[in-house]
Amino acid sequence: MYFQRNERGLSWAGTELNSLLPQIRQHLIKHYDYQGPFYAYHGAVIEARCKSLQEKLPNAFFYYSLKSLSNIHIIKKILSFDRFGLDIVSLGELERALLAGGKPEKIVFAGVAKTKTEILSAIKAGIRSFHVESVAELRSLQELAASVGVKAGVALRMNPDVEVDTHKYITTGKEENKFGISRAELPEILHCLREGKNLQLKGLQAHIGSQILDPVPYAKSLAVLNEIAQALRRENFPHLEYISLGGGFGVDYKSMYSELPVNQFSLDELHKILSQCSFESNELHFEPGRYISAMSGVLVSKVRHIKPKSNYDIALIDAGMTELLRPALYGAVHPITTLHALSEYELNRLQTYEIAGPICESSDVFARGVQLPFLKEDDDVLILHAGAYGSVMASNYNTRPLAPEVLIQNDSFQVIRRPQTYKEILASEMI
Ligand SMILES: Cc1ncc(COP(=O)(O)O)c(C=O)c1O
Repeated sequence: MYFQRNERGLSWAGTELNSLLPQIRQHLIKHYDYQGPFYAYHGAVIEARCKSLQEKLPNAFFYYSLKSLSNIHIIKKILSFDRFGLDIVSLGELERALLAGGKPEKIVFAGVAKTKTEILSAIKAGIRSFHVESVAELRSLQELAASVGVKAGVALRMNPDVEVDTHKYITTGKEENKFGISRAELPEILHCLREGKNLQLKGLQAHIGSQILDPVPYAKSLAVLNEIAQALRRENFPHLEYISLGGGFGVDYKSMYSELPVNQFSLDELHKILSQCSFESNELHFEPGRYISAMSGVLVSKVRHIKPKSNYDIALIDAGMTELLRPALYGAVHPITTLHALSEYELNRLQTYEIAGPICESSDVFARGVQLPFLKEDDDVLILHAGAYGSVMASNYNTRPLAPEVLIQNDSFQVIRRPQTYKEILASEMI
């Protein structure tokens, strides 16, 4: 699943990149007259990640959080696993989910401030449930469901006030975060549910954060949800269809070659911890995003210029924060590598570089002090583990087109998103 390097260069999950990447570049030039950066995803890695979730958490169901990587072709692949549904956060994601063949009864809708249009469209599509985050949202859902004469499924997104050790921008389950329903709001929520003739309570949910490496907070979150489920039963609410512990399983952003990454969330440990817990519902759900998508994607770029500096040279590449925002947004560090042969990676042949993008921002830097073989113009530079929160956070800043996406399967590839054209970027302004 990881990368290997030998005298022929770099391979990824058995695919020799030194022969495939030039073919992809040629294809993009020939068919789209495009020479910029692109995202490459590996089908075998996506499959391996979904398979390991199904195998290691044998009683659970997974609602893939498509915000992490939402290309329709990727969603289709994930939906080929039988215990998978989809977790969406917008009307746009609902459209993607349906276009990818997602079944409405296996779609849940999260989000802290859904609009009326979004709610109504999702009601009409017949999704399984809305992960409701406030009294105001619940009232709005009741009103809109009544307007079309149907019952809307509801799962309460609770804020379990559980601490997790991760970046402050991706902590979501603490009392001070904007997400979820607090215990104090529960009586009013239950009142609305009792009064709401068009609401059907199906579950409880909590999402405590992202890039989590320790499984213990999930057990703590489950304990809080179990307690609430018991309280609901005492109030004569029916047995819940599901409890969802959200997403957040962390991945190893540091390792490149290791088959057994050390800094990765352990599904085995989670299984062990959770098998000692009871759960007060028919089904146990998770909403993994990054765990499936992060290692499945590489951002492929090439060197434009080398700029000498007093401490070390800067390699200016053709991808920037417009294609991968995480380093500029969170200070995230991704491994960066090249297609050079193994012998070029001997310590005495390595140089130190800063790898920076072309965007007019000082934060448009991917890494400082990276050790790489001697780089020259047009050399390929690969930013690894860029599948999650990569292409989905891309922007047209500096009026740069969205980069194409390519799906690798064995030794062949398929373009799954063509490069955006300038005409497309400008079309909505030509009024
Ligand atoms: C409600 C919810 N579920 C699932 C996820 C997916 O998280 P991750 O990609 O870390 O698994 C998120 C991410 O923000 C989320 O907000």
